[in-house]
Amino acid sequence: MWRVKSLDAILATAQKKSLHRSLGAFQLTLLGVGAIIGTGIFVLTAAASQKAGPGMMISFVIAGAVCAVAALCYSELASMAPVSGSAYTYTYAVMGELLAWMVGWALILEYAVAASAVSVGWSGYVLGLIENALHFDWPDMLQAGPAWTMNGFVPTPDFSAGVVNIPAIVVALAVTMLLMIGTTESARVNALLVVVKVAALTVFVVLTLPILQTGNFSPFAPNGWFGPENTTGMGIVGAAASIFFAYVGFDAVSTAAEETKNPQRNVPIGLIGSLAICTVFYLMVAVGAVGAIGAQPVVGADGSAVQPGSAAFIAACQLAENADRLVCSNEALAHVLREINFPAVGNALGIAAMLALPSVILMMIYGQTRIFFVMARDGLLPEAFSRVHPKWKTPHIVTLFTGVAVAIAAALFPVGQLADISNSGTLFAFFMVSLAVLMLRVKDPKRHRPFRMPLVWIIAPISAAGCAFLFWNLPFDAKMVLPIWGGIGLVVYLLYGIRKSHVGRGMFDVPELDPDAPPGPVPPMPGAPSPTDDGRGHH
Ligand code: ALA
Repeated sequence: MWRVKSLDAILATAQKKSLHRSLGAFQLTLLGVGAIIGTGIFVLTAAASQKAGPGMMISFVIAGAVCAVAALCYSELASMAPVSGSAYTYTYAVMGELLAWMVGWALILEYAVAASAVSVGWSGYVLGLIENALHFDWPDMLQAGPAWTMNGFVPTPDFSAGVVNIPAIVVALAVTMLLMIGTTESARVNALLVVVKVAALTVFVVLTLPILQTGNFSPFAPNGWFGPENTTGMGIVGAAASIFFAYVGFDAVSTAAEETKNPQRNVPIGLIGSLAICTVFYLMVAVGAVGAIGAQPVVGADGSAVQPGSAAFIAACQLAENADRLVCSNEALAHVLREINFPAVGNALGIAAMLALPSVILMMIYGQTRIFFVMARDGLLPEAFSRVHPKWKTPHIVTLFTGVAVAIAAALFPVGQLADISNSGTLFAFFMVSLAVLMLRVKDPKRHRPFRMPLVWIIAPISAAGCAFLFWNLPFDAKMVLPIWGGIGLVVYLLYGIRKSHVGRGMFDVPELDPDAPPGPVPPMPGAPSPTDDGRGHH
């Protein structure tokens, strides 16, 4: 189980079964921005404010800094091994099959659960539009899933906020259907949606920054750095662990490495460029939101700050005096604009979010099917996972399976909890990537590194420590999901993957020797033109 798939074998597999290399630095950056800007900034700004107050601006900086160092680690590995599978593939090359499997398994949390979170975020905006623009009163029970609290180790639902989130189910299944029937037109659509999102954030900044009120910034950190009595998940650091979600998605750029022209140069540009663009927007939006209407948390009956999404939080937000607070809004940015007397612009921003957030869901579900695909290509998952529909040319079975799971989670959980769970898986993957960079420098120091991270012995440890630190500051239940999920993954590996692994069975790929090795080519990335090769040796 410690067997590695050597970098040469990985490159050989990809070379033989590769996609047409068509993406340049600009398209890759667009792809990154398209995957990054979503529910995090549009919705979770409210939850971050509840945790940190105005200090959530610092939370954006902390989370962005951790992502920046992690992106450097991704850049070095992605430039050396510009193939699909990202963190999973790098771990396979460096730390062996078992850990690679665990990373792939954790990426299910990252991608699938993130898709659920963004679906719920979308639902918040659509319901806001239905109520504010169409003046239709949507039934409360069908607008959100229950709030969950842990009774010991037993999750217990509280139905006071809702029973099932119908709009979230609708959008998750609609995106799944689009992915199943194919997405050939998506490159242009993706670019258009990026423009829509960036325009919406720009308008937000332009309208809010001129009316900043300094009074809205104090008290700046009502919950301190770590929350009252260091309750994990609160305070500026707790908010950073949650708002980390807003940056997730830049690693999607590395999963497109196999379809990139001159990947050694363009992948680092795409990764770091898309992250930099989003960071600048996020900081301006955070300052604008706080400065325009304030961001003080609501408190529970005992006067202490309550976790966003908890039953106590929902009760506090149902009080008339808190109705207009930023922290209570399910559509934070549109709400701010309505509060500062731009109701029509608020609605327009809502429409922008409604149009653009599905592209993030699409990237996430797609990323998920791609991870499954690569793991099946290595024999660690059944081949059915990579079966391609004869007419649609998409991996329809795994897409449907993923989409239904995403819809169920979106129907039943609040957005903040889903985002935190997704973060726990993502932080684990980023942590492993940070270690993999260092291990590869030791194990294979002579290999050509087209992008050589400067100060690797300082930056990679900072990245690993930053990921561990953010993970530690997630709420307890989100943290617990990772070991439980990992335990299930271990059992699956021991029952299946360990015996079926292609590497374990000696099925290494050697360049140009075996053009018919199973399975077929990786399906194209949304946002990328469709492959023009026949899957046999084009590169
Ligand atoms: N970063 C993505 C979002 O915020 C996942 O929606």
